[in-house]
Amino acid sequence: MAAPAMEAARPEITTPGPRLSDGATVLRRFSAAGAAAYAAIHRDPLNVQWAGSDPSMTAESAAVAIRDHIDTGWDDGRSLRFAVEELVDGNAAVVGTVSVHDVLRTASGGSASVGIKMLPAGRGQGSAARAIRLLCGYAFGTLGLDALHWRATVGNLPSRRLAERCGFVLAAEIPGYGHVDGGIAAGWVFVLTAAQWLGGPSGAGRSDAGRSHADPGEAGLPVRGLELEPVVPRLSDGSVVLRALADRDAPQLVENCTDPDAVRWTTVPLGYTSAHAAHFIGTITPDGWRSGKVLTFAVASAESDEFYGTVDLQCNDPGTASIGILMGTHARGTGAAEQAVRLLAGYAFDQLNLGYLHWHALVPNWGSRKLAWKLGFRLEAEVRGGYNDRGTPGDRWTLSLAAGDPRTPQEPWTGPDPLTR
Ligand SMILES: CC(C)(COP(=O)(O)OP(=O)(O)OC[C@H]1O[C@@H](n2cnc3c(N)ncnc32)[C@H](O)[C@@H]1OP(=O)(O)O)[C@@H](O)C(=O)NCCC(=O)NCCS
Repeated sequence: MAAPAMEAARPEITTPGPRLSDGATVLRRFSAAGAAAYAAIHRDPLNVQWAGSDPSMTAESAAVAIRDHIDTGWDDGRSLRFAVEELVDGNAAVVGTVSVHDVLRTASGGSASVGIKMLPAGRGQGSAARAIRLLCGYAFGTLGLDALHWRATVGNLPSRRLAERCGFVLAAEIPGYGHVDGGIAAGWVFVLTAAQWLGGPSGAGRSDAGRSHADPGEAGLPVRGLELEPVVPRLSDGSVVLRALADRDAPQLVENCTDPDAVRWTTVPLGYTSAHAAHFIGTITPDGWRSGKVLTFAVASAESDEFYGTVDLQCNDPGTASIGILMGTHARGTGAAEQAVRLLAGYAFDQLNLGYLHWHALVPNWGSRKLAWKLGFRLEAEVRGGYNDRGTPGDRWTLSLAAGDPRTPQEPWTGPDPLTR
């Protein structure tokens, strides 16, 4: 009998997964390298008591669980489990795990549940609150969810305190919804909405909630609250890195955006100055990450951090995004653009779980079209007048790449010969 389709090889993940950090605590995708720590987390008596953990878990069975459940959760986007890392005796060590699971994404947002299990080394240090805060930033900022739920067994006061310290508000107590020592017990459900987290007009409650239940300083949480620091993942293939834009990138960004090809083929503001760059770095890109609408990365050398240019995902419709790219002349023809877009496509498909990427270019931007072709994009249409070229209709090429498509050229190149650089 033929092997069931379920057993087909899982597509290779090409990005290392988001790495979120506040400078003290790091969250990164839980991988097989953390098998021993995952087993230790499960064997911990408090996690067995309150979180239904498996006290017999070994590093071997943890490795299987990571492959079968954690990797699948990341692949299908339904359950995203992170390792919580802290410096212990000067070395980075896994001190727990947090997750957003039961992720339900809708056209306008969605919801998920939060999970946390810490090791003794991660308790009583504020690590758990820092990890939850990073997780909330990711869930509300990057994933664009509307609501997070927190489930705890009635009587699990440390879990309740942590939830409330992080702004979650008790919504219900439900008979039989919790479990303790392998038995059923009443459960609490706490909820935190994006509005509360972001502190919009209806969200003034988060800081109030935080203040009324705990000394905010105790958890290392800011008392001002409600100002979401967007969390920009750092992605690297060892050669280039995609990271958040920084003030130090401004001078090169101005050069990139005043280059004649950039002016010709993109919609960058004309007469780009350092004021434009400062506004782009300090306001436009953080806002894009906060809203989840435009996710802009700096492209830089992984070795020297030299700034090359920018790539972005414009997430206008559910499940799809359009790619934007603008590289400095010093980085063109070096392969950096291709590497950057490969990382970006991996992030879009494997981390954001998008179904399609689109690529729009003003005709005849052959450099752009060829780069898309190298990545496996296929031409869908040439739309007459489909490009708003600063108020004048230009023709537009639209190319597409689906999540399962090979990321290699899908047809012979029929455009002009390469440039001699
Ligand atoms: C588009 C862009 C990101 C491509 O980056 P890059 O580093 O030049 O990309 P690559 O070198 O990997 O690939 C470009 C290919 O197009 C070819 N090419 C570029 N311009 C060309 C032209 N006018 N005619 C024919 N081929 C051209 C290059 O020779 C290269 O092919 P090769 O690898 O076979 O030599 C970069 O040129 C850029 O930032 N341009 C300005 C902004 C822009 O146009 N952005 C895209 C908007 S849709």
